[in-house]
Amino acid sequence: PAATTHGRTSPMTKTFTLDGKTIPFEEGETIMEAASAAGVYIPHLCHHPEFKPHGSCKLCTVNIGGRLGAACTNQAAEGMKVESETAALNADRLALTQMLFVEGNHVCPSCEKSGNCQLQAVAYHLGMLTPHFPHFYPARDIDASHPDVMLERNRCILCELCVRASRDVDGKNVFGIGGRGIRARLIVNSASGRLADTSLSVTDRAAEVCPTGAIVRKRHGFTIPIGKRLYDHHDIAEVPVAGMERPKK
Ligand code: SF4
Ligand code: FES
Repeated sequence: PAATTHGRTSPMTKTFTLDGKTIPFEEGETIMEAASAAGVYIPHLCHHPEFKPHGSCKLCTVNIGGRLGAACTNQAAEGMKVESETAALNADRLALTQMLFVEGNHVCPSCEKSGNCQLQAVAYHLGMLTPHFPHFYPARDIDASHPDVMLERNRCILCELCVRASRDVDGKNVFGIGGRGIRARLIVNSASGRLADTSLSVTDRAAEVCPTGAIVRKRHGFTIPIGKRLYDHHDIAEVPVAGMERPKK
C-alpha cells in the first residue's frame, strides 16, 4: 500500500505495521526512527535522535514478529509486524521505570529538572503511582566543582547520553561509566575525577543532553517556574525530547 505519513508517499516506500498501523521507513532506519518520523511514540530513555543507539534502558522493547527486541537498535524490515502498546509490554516498562527510581535517589519535588525530566515524564506516561520496589538508597557523590555545571549522580540513570555527546559531538570524552551492575557509576575523566579539572564547557552538548537532573547548568535553576514546564502540560508521547534551551555561546 502507498504510505501516507510524513511525506513518504511513494508507492515504492517500504512499510511495516506497528500496533496495526502502517509505518513507512527508509532502508537502514530503526523501528524507533521510523515510528518517530510517523509521529508514533515508543517509550524510551537512552535513545536520542541525534546520537547512536545505545540499547541499554530496554524501555523501548517491542514485540517483533514474536520475539522481543529494542525498537531503538532493531532495523525496520518490509512487512514486519511490531507490537508496542500491549498491556504486557507496558507492564514491563512500568517495572523497568520503577527499578530506575529505586536504583538511584530521585527526589522529584526538590529537583530543578522536575517538569522537564524524561524519567519523571515516562513514569507519568506509564501511570506509575509508587516505586513499588524497596529503595536501594545508594551512596552517590555529587560533583559541584565545575563553575557552571553541576553533576548530581543521585539522579543518573546511566543512559550514557552525556558520554556519547562528549565523545562524539564535543570531541572531549569528559564522561564514562565505571564499575558494573549496581556499582556502575558515571565517572569523570580527569586525573582528580572532578568535573572542574576537565575541559567541559557549559556550551558543550554533553552539558545539556541529560534526560534527568543529573547534569544541570548552575544559576539557571527555576528560570522556567514549576508548573510552566514542558511535561507539566504535555504527555511525553506528544513531545518525546525535552527542548532544553541551549545556552548562548
Ligand atoms: Fe544519562 Fe544524565 Fe547519567 Fe549522563 S548524567 S548517563 S546523560 S542520566
Ligand atoms: Fe531503546 Fe533505551 S531507548 S533501549
